[in-house]
Amino acid sequence: MKKPTPGKFIVFEGLDGAGTSTQMALLKNWLSQQDIFAEVTKEPSNGPAGVVIRQAIEERIVMTPTAIALAFACDRVDHLQNDANGVQKSLGQGSWVLCDRYVLSSLAYQSSEGMDLEWLKAINRFAFAPHVTIFVDTSIEVCVERINRRSSHNELFHHSDKLKTVRTQYQQLLDHSELTGHLVKVNGDGTEQEVFAELITQFQQWMEQSTAS
Ligand code: TMP
Repeated sequence: MKKPTPGKFIVFEGLDGAGTSTQMALLKNWLSQQDIFAEVTKEPSNGPAGVVIRQAIEERIVMTPTAIALAFACDRVDHLQNDANGVQKSLGQGSWVLCDRYVLSSLAYQSSEGMDLEWLKAINRFAFAPHVTIFVDTSIEVCVERINRRSSHNELFHHSDKLKTVRTQYQQLLDHSELTGHLVKVNGDGTEQEVFAELITQFQQWMEQSTAS
């Protein structure tokens, strides 16, 4: 995976209910206090393929696991490369981009649906590695409790047996720095502020290292 320059691409990963969106919003605020403006985005994106994926995730349409894996890869290439608001363009202009989910989600979730890992990497090969992956490591029990509290409808991956398989897949993938870039891993079971305190300590260390080198 090639790295784009000169902006910074920071990706959040974790199980459904892990708290990635909350932590991403807190990091955006913290960065703005350091006079760093960061764009925020997510996958599935709001682009055309993302809209179809969202319907499949919410079980309003039925797609096979293979079609879903390809749709995520399709959404990702558009999200990265489209001329209007693609991530690559923002990074090229020097912006920081914070993204809720990226390639690791495809590798962890779609492999847990029986898709071959090497095939998943192949269909995502256009996707460059982020500078940093922040993995919010939240226990299944806490994820399920948060999912039940906030959502009134079923989703494809909102079942604890599925989340268990996804968690195992994530743990194996996190050792691969060619996929994650610099890894920040935090315990997601605490309060928002407890989790963020752990996150920002590690993140600041990375910022200091990356400006020194
Ligand atoms: P979220 O927007 O609430 O995080 O939901 C997105 C869902 O889509 C979540 O269950 C994870 C799943 N997903 C995949 O299965 N593969 C992917 O590549 C991405 C980005 C998300």
